[in-house]
Amino acid sequence: MRPGAVHYFRDAADLGRGLARALEVPARAVAVHRFPDGESRVTVDAQPGGSAVLVRRLDDPNAKLFEVLLAADALRRSGVRRVALAAPYLPYMRQDRVFTPGEAVSQQVIGETLGRAFDRVVTVEPHLHRIHDLGEVFDCAAVSVPAAPLLADWCQQCGEGTLLVGPDEESLPWTRAVAAAAGLPFVVGEKVRRGDRRVRVTLPELPAGRRAVLLDDIASTGVTLAAAARALRHAGVKKVDAAVVHAIFARGAATTLRRAGIARVVSCDSVVHPTNAIATAPSLARAIRTRHVASRRTSAAEGGG
Ligand code: R5P
Repeated sequence: MRPGAVHYFRDAADLGRGLARALEVPARAVAVHRFPDGESRVTVDAQPGGSAVLVRRLDDPNAKLFEVLLAADALRRSGVRRVALAAPYLPYMRQDRVFTPGEAVSQQVIGETLGRAFDRVVTVEPHLHRIHDLGEVFDCAAVSVPAAPLLADWCQQCGEGTLLVGPDEESLPWTRAVAAAAGLPFVVGEKVRRGDRRVRVTLPELPAGRRAVLLDDIASTGVTLAAAARALRHAGVKKVDAAVVHAIFARGAATTLRRAGIARVVSCDSVVHPTNAIATAPSLARAIRTRHVASRRTSAAEGGG
């Protein structure tokens, strides 16, 4: 896709401008007016014809998703023919089945809703557990930017022999990918979750080394990283840092990590947080431009436009 402009919500101005620079197209702010009753009026400044990208980070999803749908509608009513959503963090991916009778499958609901509103969805390292391809979630074209190369660049600077540690079996594929790209050793632990803020992480026998970097796709309460950090220190590792993709960081997470002895945390800028150190805009731009994408509708290649 070759967009004519990037339209960004003001809470993603940095990302919108970065993406527009990378794509060499104009960046235009989406205006949002909040009515006294809590409804939103969304206004876009778009040229008719061609394609456009809409940018928003979708942490705090209940507050943001509806305005994103309104903006997609506004772009189409302004005559834009193809609209892509660049959302570096995709929410609601973890509920990918009914765990307890009576629940919804939120991953499917998001996939169907965004898939109807957009021609393409581009994101960074979505949390996919039981399915392996974002194309299975969306009816529209979907591109998942792997975070491994982004984290690997940072991990490489940590020095030879730094041990990379995935806290649970779900982290195996991409911990392995980061390790391969960074040329560093890795191990993966086993996690048992007993509640929102109660987890137990068990690590295998560790190779000798005094420094480790914990890797996780999402840090929410921080208890997963904290439990893994305690296990590492218990095993004799002296310095523990952490690199996460999506720094959701619920209230109290920073304290939880500090108390567990994690020296430094870095994250991608898919969610705004003081730990942001890795830019996602250049990779998102490449994913917008790519012609080869997967979806439930088009499992092979998609044309440009
Ligand atoms: C879960 O499987 C994810 O990969 C993360 O490990 C999890 O979401 C982290 O959550 P928290 O920080 O609340 O432990």
